[in-house]
Amino acid sequence: MKHFLFTLQHYLAYLADIMATVGKVIKCKAAVAWEPNKPLVIEEVEVAPPGPNEVRIKIVATAVCHTDLYRLYENGVEAAFPTILGHEGAGIVESVGTGVTELKAGDKVIPLFLRQCKECRFCKSPKTNQCVVAWEGAILKKVPPEDSPITCKGKSLQRFTGTGTFSEYTVVNELAVAKIDPAAPLDKVCLIGCGICTGYGAAVNTAKVEPGSTCAVFGLGAIGLAAVMGCHAAGAKRIIAVDINPDKFEKAKVLGATDFVNPKDHSKPISEVLSEMTNGGVDFSLECVGNVGVMRSALESCIQGWGVSVIVGWTELEDVAAKPLMMIAGRTWKGSVFGGFKGRVDVPKMVKAYMDKKLKVDEFITHNLPLEKINEAFDMMKNGKCIRTVLNLSTE
Ligand code: APR
Ligand code: ZN
Repeated sequence: MKHFLFTLQHYLAYLADIMATVGKVIKCKAAVAWEPNKPLVIEEVEVAPPGPNEVRIKIVATAVCHTDLYRLYENGVEAAFPTILGHEGAGIVESVGTGVTELKAGDKVIPLFLRQCKECRFCKSPKTNQCVVAWEGAILKKVPPEDSPITCKGKSLQRFTGTGTFSEYTVVNELAVAKIDPAAPLDKVCLIGCGICTGYGAAVNTAKVEPGSTCAVFGLGAIGLAAVMGCHAAGAKRIIAVDINPDKFEKAKVLGATDFVNPKDHSKPISEVLSEMTNGGVDFSLECVGNVGVMRSALESCIQGWGVSVIVGWTELEDVAAKPLMMIAGRTWKGSVFGGFKGRVDVPKMVKAYMDKKLKVDEFITHNLPLEKINEAFDMMKNGKCIRTVLNLSTE
């Protein structure tokens, strides 16, 4: 009871706190990416109140994903800057714009980089999460200054994928918000906003891994480890974890991997190594690196007749190639984004699975840092020294 009263008091104080900002421009801290290939800069930004069908969110925690690193250092197209990166966050709704009916101040939420309208032909089909407006937040075009709710030193800032979670406050379209269990710890479940769903869903929803099967996961960052967890949950008998950084094997084992292969230990192609280990190839393979050469290896590691290979890693720079005979001989090559999950409907379920201890998340968090140290988080990811670093922006 005492605890409940404390929580209630705390919550009321919080509500009073956010009510003080409703309808006003909020000045707060954000990590701004002014240009590609340069470290982020902590700046004071101005966040406008939410417009129609938008919500303003106080970000409590956000993790750094390889796709943020990719946009800043590996494919830093000028048109995408200046921007606020970050798409794996969790927070609390501070206020809502006109027309918003399903969300209110105080709701705990996870912003979504892939939108779900719930009404289009894709949303109505159980086969896909490719909503007609799914990618709207991700389009690489400069937001006209008058349209951007976040500004710094008079310049308008884009929000990467429409979320921009490396900011104490951000504004997001209501179709890009999943409302979650009010008891969920935001500094943990933020990972469900990208890494966990992307890898886990790629195994469960896209590959449709079968009980008793043999799987191979290439790349053991958070995405690949979540894919390992998904293969395990689906009942795979053997899960071969592949990475050029052997430091990643220990975590893979915790999440269910049974075999470990470092391509650097072998002189022959990795597909041949896997084929020998598995009497002809794996049933399912998942590429979680974002490297077109690895995508091809993952496909070639599949068994003829029924092998399924899923592209999970992200790259926009190169084409991917394979011999047609691979598919003629019965293999299937697929891909998915966000693990095929429909964000607004499925993210709350994934949070519930975590709360019910049916889904691991804590195991993926290797570091916690304040927003000011965000460049350290990027460096650690670049150097393979972390799985996920969670940036703690505020207390709940
Ligand atoms: N073969 C196997 N593993 C590799 C290879 C390779 N040739 N090259 C890199 N790796 C491993 C790295 O050692 C690292 O452990 O891939 C892993 C990638 O992990 P992270 O950098 O932590 O990236 P993560 O956030 O998991 O994202 C992986 O998914 O969403 C996309 O953009 C993201 O393309 C990226 C991928
Ligand atoms: Zn839709």
